[in-house]
Amino acid sequence: MTKIRAYRDSDATSWLRCRLLSFFPTEYYDDVVVTRPTFENPAHRLVAVDNDTVVGLMDVELFADRATIDVLAIHPDHQRRGLATRLLEAAVPRLQVDVLDAWTRGDAAANEWYQRSGFTGNFRYLHVYKSWRDDSTGFEAPEGVDRVVNAFMHAPLSAEGAMRERFGRVHVCRQYVRKL
Ligand SMILES: CC(C)(COP(=O)(O)OP(=O)(O)OC[C@H]1O[C@@H](n2cnc3c(N)ncnc32)[C@H](O)[C@@H]1OP(=O)(O)O)[C@@H](O)C(=O)NCCC(=O)NCCS
Repeated sequence: MTKIRAYRDSDATSWLRCRLLSFFPTEYYDDVVVTRPTFENPAHRLVAVDNDTVVGLMDVELFADRATIDVLAIHPDHQRRGLATRLLEAAVPRLQVDVLDAWTRGDAAANEWYQRSGFTGNFRYLHVYKSWRDDSTGFEAPEGVDRVVNAFMHAPLSAEGAMRERFGRVHVCRQYVRKL
């Protein structure tokens, strides 16, 4: 039986592997971390474990006026068995704020899951990647650097058409909000 419990330092390697495999088939495929992120604010860090192997994880960072799901990932071999729902159910009673939010891109699994879990879509903006294939006009490198090869940028949703015309990789980043 998969158990939900607080993250322990001994989970680190298993946690990183679970996050990596979970993100690989998504629009966050290259959002790779090789050390466990730390938070400036307090955070609830939960894991779903099978015999101490991490098969799901959720970090919720606590701000004065809200809590934010920083990461939510279920190992691909363990999805659609209610684990993300169990992690959320374990996190919510620990939150002392009125609002829980999360940010995600266009993946159907994540969007459907947030909507079925009581979240409503709110703010949207663009994540734009410039690769070496994209036109470099307007990109200025700082002194001592030859040229800008790759870049990651934010842009308003209203610029979506223009961004897609110019850059090969554009994601719509969506904020989901749930009143607690
Ligand atoms: C989104 C995610 C966390 C859901 O985890 P999960 O444990 O499979 O979700 P649950 O079992 O609690 O809920 C299942 C429900 O979520 C939705 N869902 C999950 N996977 C889905 C998919 N591939 N397609 C459509 N809906 C999906 C459905 O509503 C599903 O209900 P159903 O199986 O009755 O149709 C998981 O797919 C995941 O880790 N994805 C990759 C990482 C990611 O996108 N993280 C979140 C944003 S950063």
